[in-house]
Amino acid sequence: MRLTILGGGGFRVPLVYGALLRDHAPGRVTEVTLYDVDAARLAAIARVLADQARGVPDAPAVRAVTDQDEALRGADFVFSAIRVGGLAGRAADERIALAEGVLGQETVGAGGVAYGLRTVPVADAVARRIKALAPDAWVINFTNPAGLVTEAMARHLGERVIGICDSPVGLARRVARTVGADPDAVRLDYAGLNHLGWLHGLYEGDKDVLPRLFADDALLTSFEEGRLFGADWLRSLGSVPNEYLHYYYFNREAVAAYRQAELTRGAFLLDQQARFYATVADGGRAWDAWDRTRAEREATYMSENREVSGAGERAADDLESGGYENVALALMRAIARDEPATLILNVRNGASLHALDAEAVVEIPCHVDASGPRPLPVTQLTGHEAGLVSAVKAVERCVLEAAAAGSARAAVKAFALHPLVDSVQVARRLLTGYREAHPGLGYLRP
Ligand code: G6P
Ligand code: MN
Repeated sequence: MRLTILGGGGFRVPLVYGALLRDHAPGRVTEVTLYDVDAARLAAIARVLADQARGVPDAPAVRAVTDQDEALRGADFVFSAIRVGGLAGRAADERIALAEGVLGQETVGAGGVAYGLRTVPVADAVARRIKALAPDAWVINFTNPAGLVTEAMARHLGERVIGICDSPVGLARRVARTVGADPDAVRLDYAGLNHLGWLHGLYEGDKDVLPRLFADDALLTSFEEGRLFGADWLRSLGSVPNEYLHYYYFNREAVAAYRQAELTRGAFLLDQQARFYATVADGGRAWDAWDRTRAEREATYMSENREVSGAGERAADDLESGGYENVALALMRAIARDEPATLILNVRNGASLHALDAEAVVEIPCHVDASGPRPLPVTQLTGHEAGLVSAVKAVERCVLEAAAAGSARAAVKAFALHPLVDSVQVARRLLTGYREAHPGLGYLRP
């Protein structure tokens, strides 16, 4: 089994490789090809993986290449984990939005729109190459904004591309643990878009155990999302939102806190990772440097957001997110070995959520086996949930149109229609600012 990782010089690749190393079953991945546009980053990560593989007799062979076509040929699975514009791009996405007084964040609001405008043309080109060179490969998209990017790639690859995220399963595991249910045995009634979904029910057999959570204040505020949103607001909603909804429900506070922060998340990571890659390039111990950086990074995850809400430090238990790498591997295993699994994935809506059209990529629980993912029945989105996902999907469609037609007008519309951007004038200035910062947006024409 051959796995290709696009963005193979990325910081999270050792997490994926670590998960592969723990898999000794027949049908496992035996060859990993790392592809990246940056040869130095690629070399650094290859050194980390070599350290990891030491002493593991059946460790998958690793090959690092800077030719994308060479990487794709013969792949059974492709993980697409690229970051167009790098962390400097992310930092600019955040900074420019915050300077306009609107949310500057990797995937939500103006920052997410900018990231999408930059990424969709590249993801589109990648999908075309995969279709030409590895038409039977399954593509697992890690690239954010994951729902939008998966929808862009699906226009070429159909159901062969599946988007993943660790946040819904992380949420579900935390809730299950809180109510004393077995996280691996519960059925999840979760639906929405990526980073914009709600848990409506959590079933042990036929019984929904969420009411038990809502009945108890202490339980309700004992896990990450409970602390973020507060018991009172969770009761008002009657569901448990994905942590990213904090940016919507507490937007003003989040923007104020982010504007005060010394560094945005992207700027912090940019600096941290520059130090990591430099240490490895200077001949430092690759694995140790990586592991130290990872620990630091996790400790500060979403920290400003938690400060805003008074949620305090993230509890050690809450750190267990399910992990992107575990979701990706479980998905790959279910398909490659026909081992049925239930996973929350970003897939074509079809007839699942009535609030959205069939081609929309949505985030819902799926049954997965060798034939791929099949969405499972879930509670419909209604009222404000249906409104919010429809509004954000409309924004995503403007981004897709902007990318396909090179249209600056559609790009302004994408910013302006976003629920977290409050004026068309702001949208126009955002596009101007982003075009100055990102050479990758030069394709947009008035
Ligand atoms: C979660 C989300 C990802 C996101 C990441 C950001 O895992 O599901 O989509 O990219 O957090 O973490 P970072 O450490 O890069 O801020
Ligand atoms: Mn995610």
